[in-house]
Amino acid sequence: MIFFFSGRGIVQYVARSNWSTESWGIVCQLFVIWAIVVSVDLVLSRLLKTGSIMKKIVISTGGGDAPGLNAVIYAVVHTCYKKGWEVFGSRNGYEGFLDVDEMVRLYPRDVEGIYSAGGTILGSTNKGNPFACPVKNLAGEIQIVDLSDKIMRNFNRMGFDCHIAVGGDGSLEIAHKFAEKGMPVVGVPKTIDNDLKITDRTFGFDTAVSTATEALDKLHSTAKSHRRVMVVEVMGRESGWIALYSGISGGADVILLPEIPFDIEAVCEKIADNELRDKQYSIVVAAEGATTVDGLRFNKGKGELGRAEMVLGGVGEWVASEIRKRTEKDTRALVLGHLQRGGSPTTFDRLLALRFGAAAVRLVEEKMFDHMIALVDSKMEAVPIAEAIKGRKKVDLESDKVTTARGIGICLGDEAPQD
Ligand code: F6P
Repeated sequence: MIFFFSGRGIVQYVARSNWSTESWGIVCQLFVIWAIVVSVDLVLSRLLKTGSIMKKIVISTGGGDAPGLNAVIYAVVHTCYKKGWEVFGSRNGYEGFLDVDEMVRLYPRDVEGIYSAGGTILGSTNKGNPFACPVKNLAGEIQIVDLSDKIMRNFNRMGFDCHIAVGGDGSLEIAHKFAEKGMPVVGVPKTIDNDLKITDRTFGFDTAVSTATEALDKLHSTAKSHRRVMVVEVMGRESGWIALYSGISGGADVILLPEIPFDIEAVCEKIADNELRDKQYSIVVAAEGATTVDGLRFNKGKGELGRAEMVLGGVGEWVASEIRKRTEKDTRALVLGHLQRGGSPTTFDRLLALRFGAAAVRLVEEKMFDHMIALVDSKMEAVPIAEAIKGRKKVDLESDKVTTARGIGICLGDEAPQD
């Protein structure tokens, strides 16, 4: 205010003067000084009010969705709002960076109550890596183009200070490449598969395990009534976390993990052993990425254009048909599929996602770019994204969970029942 009046005073003083070149020079100099003082005043008052200089953050959610994504968005928006920062959301991964209509300003009122909802209000995609994006040319042919420079230009033009990228291995790999190009990036780990390295947990996993366990609980009664074998295929491309956790908790007789190639003979022997013990039904849980000892892996091909990964699937059906053939037991297979990705996040996932969101903003403040927030020994820690995407976090075969499974008589497909 003071500076506004003093600025006006200067102009009025000069207006009354003779407008010589010298006067103009003085006016200009005074004006520049006045503008600098006003800017410093504004910055200082902002600092005093919020404790930090205003920042402009953009958040994106990429890859397969997972329960808890909305909770991360909620925490980021609220934490930034308290600091006086602006938050924008990029729709469907990087679409907002390519088309300004897909970039939305997020206020607390836009995220009200979303922490308990599944999915992501921003939308997601696991196709169209911006570094190798399939685009139709004028002749209608598909060309692979690198859109990363355009995204960098738009990021800078829009005046963002940081990109909070919420994703699994694929999305974080892309985020890391942008960081290498100079984009300030902070990662948040997401995947129901729980296969990201360094972080003890990713959000979405606990919800997926609960869904799978509940399904197994329900299958027991129908399997028992019909004296059947039920084979349940769950998600888990390279790591069998969902299969192991839900299988143990849901009373499975057999659990097949990508980490332990399985022998179908051992699986059938376990089912026969159940019969001998007068248990005339069996439950088999197979991770979609489980392979046989002969190296048989089950997939449905490449899938949609622009998708990097194979579409896995088929192991449950194959195991069921082999069991039917070899044991003559009535056998059914079912694929839990995307049910595991849906629904409201469990309390564990919700809390973890909220903690990740709030901690990600702290990383922005500390300028810990090209880092991902991780859960390490119950604490929030910053780890280099490059470390988190180096390979997949596999089930530790020496862990207590695997020992427990074997100890309570669950067959893991590598050995038949001992006694
Ligand atoms: O990576 C998570 C995941 O859920 C995998 O377990 C699964 O193979 C894949 O995504 C399925 O992807 P889509 O949604 O494209 O079918």
